[in-house]
Amino acid sequence: MDRFLINGPCKIKGTINLSGSKNASLPILAATILFEEPVEIKNLPNVKDIRTMLDLIKSLGFIVKKNKINNSIIIKKKNIKTFASYSLVKTMRAGILVLGPLLSKYKKATTSLPGGCLIGARPVNFHLNALGKLGMKHCIKKGYIYANAEKGLKGSTIKFPKISVGATENAILAATLAQGKTILKNCAIEPEIKIDLTNFLNKAGAKIKWIGKRSVEIEGVKKLNSISYSVMADRIECGTFCVAAVISKGEVKINGLNPKIISTELKLLKKIGAKIKNFEDSILIKGPKKIKSIKLLKTKEYDGFPTDLQAPFMALLCKANGKSVIQERIFENRFTHVGELKRLGAKISIIKNKAIINGNSNFEGAELMSSDLRASVALVIAAIVAKGNSIINRIYHLDRGYEKIENKLRKVGVNIKRLS
Ligand code: EPZ
Repeated sequence: MDRFLINGPCKIKGTINLSGSKNASLPILAATILFEEPVEIKNLPNVKDIRTMLDLIKSLGFIVKKNKINNSIIIKKKNIKTFASYSLVKTMRAGILVLGPLLSKYKKATTSLPGGCLIGARPVNFHLNALGKLGMKHCIKKGYIYANAEKGLKGSTIKFPKISVGATENAILAATLAQGKTILKNCAIEPEIKIDLTNFLNKAGAKIKWIGKRSVEIEGVKKLNSISYSVMADRIECGTFCVAAVISKGEVKINGLNPKIISTELKLLKKIGAKIKNFEDSILIKGPKKIKSIKLLKTKEYDGFPTDLQAPFMALLCKANGKSVIQERIFENRFTHVGELKRLGAKISIIKNKAIINGNSNFEGAELMSSDLRASVALVIAAIVAKGNSIINRIYHLDRGYEKIENKLRKVGVNIKRLS
């Protein structure tokens, strides 16, 4: 199992180019099920979750071809099977996103239930209820969802009881080829959905129109047209590198993302003391001498502060001058990094869904264990500013979502090595 060896403290300086967004690529790959003709997708990040999604698409009977010249992939329909196996869906919850498109296009699907994971139970009831309102009938047996829509899906008006990224995506994908009009209310409006998935589908001929902050209208179409599309840059990767720059009191130019997309995070970093200059598609960020604490930081759905950056921000606030509190409101168990940060010298206590962080910690290198994707990257960030050697075990979690992170960090001055 691969591990990272980081010798700190390091100061980050230089330029980082962002990869394509993992969480935008996943629903876009699921959307390729809706097509008759080939689709070209560019800027996919080369990370484990994307490779798993491509394997899932292949297992459904599509041909996936890599174009080495422009690093894109082409997905083409061949002999379709509507069965998504446990072995692929269990390792990546986004596998459930094939359910909506399979039903919409092929009127039936059998997909494994994704199950829970370390950060929470993560049920799929909102997905199933929304698809049910579009005409899906289903039963659950031995861990599989057996679903069909014999007469095809039909448009409907659906209000999600709670905002869910995945359920919004699944319903949009299903409604794209459904008969008639669907209106979805109380949707997730993460840029991966409201910008990228919407642009991708509309470019192919779908009729998707956002009609208010959290409502979208989808007029079903008969077919989608072959297209070539480039996925947006990864905003969570961008936020991660911003935090790494600030904690190390360094200076980094991050290329590839419109700063407006992460304005909430940038405002927070400014409050903490960072100096930030925004350009059209890049950010110049410089860490302050003294990091200021934050009284209360709550994770929220977009355009609030993202749960996916909660762990990196916690590492940062350990170095702030004073006490900060972080409240995790999206997932019930997303504090697995706390025990590991403490091994470096962090002073954090947990009360229910709040982490109380006493700042001014002097981190000293230690041996650490990754537990989930974003928890792992928080440990990397902390190890960058810890004195001496840190070893981070089980970085396969990190490889699910960060492309070549050690190369990117090494290029800006971090003393990091992958040990195989
Ligand atoms: C997406 O997960 C992201 N994954 C997550 O990214 C991200 O943390 C999360 O949204 C929140 O922003 C992808 O985009 C592939 P949800 P998703 O449905 O869709 C509850 C990362 O690190 N819920 O918005 O699974 C659920 O348990 C990750 O890249 C139900 O109760 O998240 C959670 O408490 C991990 N029933 C809340 O809603 C449902 O049917 C929000 O979950 C669905 C969700």
